[in-house]
Order: sequence, then C-alpha cells, then structure tokens
Amino acid sequence: MTATEPVDLTVADLHPALGDPALTSMNFLNEVSERYPAAVSLAAGRPYEEFFDLAAVHRHLDTFHRHLTDDLGHSSEQARRLLLQYGRTKGIVHHLIARNLAVDEGITVDPEAVVVTVGCQEAMFLVLRALRAGPEDVLLAVAPTYVGLTGAARLVDLPVWPVAGGPSGVDLADLSAQVRRARAAGLRPRACYVMPDFANPSGVSISAEDRRRLLTLAAEEDLLLLEDNPYGLFHSADGPRPPTLKALDTGRRVVYLGSFAKTVLPGARVGYVVADQRVAGADGRTGPLADQLAMIKSMVTVNTSPIAQAVIGGRLLENGCSLVVANTRERSAYTRNLRHLVTGLRRRFPGTAAVRWTVPAGGFFVVVTVPFPVDDALLDRSARDYGVLWTPMAHFYDDTAPVCALRLSVSAVTPQQIDVGLDRLAALITDEVARRAG
Ligand SMILES: Cc1ncc(COP(=O)(O)O)c(C=O)c1O
Repeated sequence: MTATEPVDLTVADLHPALGDPALTSMNFLNEVSERYPAAVSLAAGRPYEEFFDLAAVHRHLDTFHRHLTDDLGHSSEQARRLLLQYGRTKGIVHHLIARNLAVDEGITVDPEAVVVTVGCQEAMFLVLRALRAGPEDVLLAVAPTYVGLTGAARLVDLPVWPVAGGPSGVDLADLSAQVRRARAAGLRPRACYVMPDFANPSGVSISAEDRRRLLTLAAEEDLLLLEDNPYGLFHSADGPRPPTLKALDTGRRVVYLGSFAKTVLPGARVGYVVADQRVAGADGRTGPLADQLAMIKSMVTVNTSPIAQAVIGGRLLENGCSLVVANTRERSAYTRNLRHLVTGLRRRFPGTAAVRWTVPAGGFFVVVTVPFPVDDALLDRSARDYGVLWTPMAHFYDDTAPVCALRLSVSAVTPQQIDVGLDRLAALITDEVARRAG
C-alpha cells in the first residue's frame, strides 16, 4: 500500500454494534421522514414546536445567572466562569433537579447523587457502561422497549433480555422467570429497565400496586431497577399521578433516569440520572454510584454544557422548580391530541376486531394492531403513496419476528393533522387488507 492510497474500512472491522438494527433504527426513521417531507408525521415523538420560544431561552439564561449571584452569592466573575468555562462533571443544576424531584414527585435525593447528562440518552449509557462488569452480565428490559436503550446496551456489549410487558406494563411472573432463567444459564442480571409511566412505545403505565410489587420483587431477586420517566407529567386524567418507583424506593433499588427533552427543550440536550446507591471504592471510601458515573462521563462528554444547563435551570427557577406548573399548556395540548386520536380511530374503525388500539392514560403514544405484519417497506409505501408516517413496532423488539402493529405519536401534530393522518392511515389499512385478501 502506498502512502497516498486511501484507507478503506469495513464495518466488520468496527464495533459489532455498528451493524446492529438497534443503532440504525433512529437514522432510518429520520431518513424516511426527510425523504417524504410532505407526509403527515404520526411517527415523531418530538415535543410540540409551537411552544418553543427563543426569547424565553434568553430569559432562562438570565434567570439562572441571577440565581448564581443573588441566591448563591457568586461574584459576577465566578458566575461568568460557571456558565462559560469547563465545569463540574456532575453538573451545575443538580440542586435544582433535586428540588424539582421533591416538588413534583415527592422524591428526596441528595443533590450529590445527581449527574446532569447530555440528554437522558447519555444517562442510560453511563449507567449501562458502569453495570456491565463482565461477559456474564445481562440487562432485563420490558418488551417492547425504547430503542435508545437497546442501542446503548449494544455499545457496551450488554445483552438485553426481554421481559413480557403486557397490559399491566410489566409481567412480574415473567420477570421472576427470566431472572431465574438467566441465573440458571450462568448469567448475572444486573438490572431491569422499566418505563412505569406512558411507556415508549406501548403507552402503557404500571399500576401503583404493581410498582410496589416490582420493588419487592427487585429486593427479593437483588436487582436494580432503571426507571426512565420522560413522559410522566403528561397524564390525561385529573387527579393524582401514581408515585414513581423512586418515590417508593426505600432500599436504593432504583436508578432514576430523567429527561428535560419533553418538559423543557430537546435542543438543550439535558437529562440526568439519580444514582444514590452506595459504592465502596477501591480506596475503601464509600460514595454514591453517581460519583462512578461521573468518572465515566468525564471520559465521554467531560461535562454537560453549562449554558444548556442554565437554560433548564432558569426554566425551573421561573416555575418554583415545578415542571408540572411549567407544562400546563403542553399537558393540555397532548391530552387534547391523545383524545382526538383515540376518538378518530374509533370513528374510522368502528366495530372492527381486526384493527385494535391502546387507550393510554397519557403520554405521546398509541399502538395500533392490524391484521398484517408491519415492516419498513410498508412504512416507505405509506409515506410515498399515502402521505402518512408512523413507526413500525418491530423497531422496539430485539428480534426479527414479524410484528402486526405500529406506533402513532400525538406530540408533534395538530388535531387537523391527526385527522388527515388518520384518513390516510385508514386508507392504507383498508387497501392492505384488501390486497392480502385478493
Ligand atoms: C423512553 C425514553 N427515554 C429516553 C429518551 C431520550 O431522552 P433525551 O432526549 O433526554 O436523550 C427518550 C426520547 O424519546 C425516550 O422516549
């Protein structure tokens, strides 16, 4: 080979995760929507853009800056440094996150157990990286599950063992059975990943009673629970929300994963993890798991942009640290859309047992079951010929078995767009049933 000859690599020479469908899933879905920009998208789980406000971002930044000087007593030079310089690995809004969890969720955490991350995605990666100590380690996850979790697990060589979700959100008997099966195979289940509130993609929530049972089971089986909660604030019904697992967690069983993507701004890319599990370090000193995660973070993203954190911090401060208060408009828009979608499905598929859908109590997602397998080729045809996008549920399962279901999202559309999208989806389903029958 000469010095000027270009080097060609093959994916086979790179990390095995790079050839894996879990990693290509998000890009594929983005590509389809870019290819068909005129299609109505019931696919994207993005928050509603009408509420984005650039002026508010500047104000949040100022609010947080004032907090640093007026409340925390920093000089303006120190405050400027905190916002613009490299900074604390665990973040600079950890105290506000702890306050938010107390105000909105009744969760009491030491701010030192919080690591502010580059989105919840980084939080998942840090936790999985830390938990994967050896080749015998596996992660349990309720299926169907969030593809970002599966992809992160792939990157750290941690196999994901599916646990049945079912209508109750987690099948506790199956969870016990899977733990035993894994152990009998010489493996070590480290944790079970769950989304107790309006899960992505199923939309299902776990009942308060099952949350308690899940915690008891985790203690009996000596498992950690990874609780991911990006949608919990968007409940449709009035009245109290069920407590988070972390609020019920008296034994430090729960690692809590948070995201501000849906409750503040996805573009800020800020999330966090609460990891209060005690870890005895190599030096004999004990500290929270958060400290170990911070060590990993220092080698991945160094620290989360303090400017982005300040935007989140300002929004929290302007709302008494309550994201429930901050998201009043958002919650009512998502609730309206969810009801509109479910009513629209009922109208378009009256009395058809072959087409069924979930009726979630909140969140962004509805799953529609149809009498034929739903794959990427059908999605492409739906976008091209019918002008509507959705997500094949197969993307959320970690195997290649055909899945007769698709996910609809209500978060980034208007009721009018929902109507158009559902008309187009109904036409696709009718044609597809007829095509297969004929
Ligand atoms: C269940 C779940 N967890 C995590 C994330 C990622 O959150 P973030 O944007 O904060 O990285 C998402 C995003 O859609 C999600 O649905």
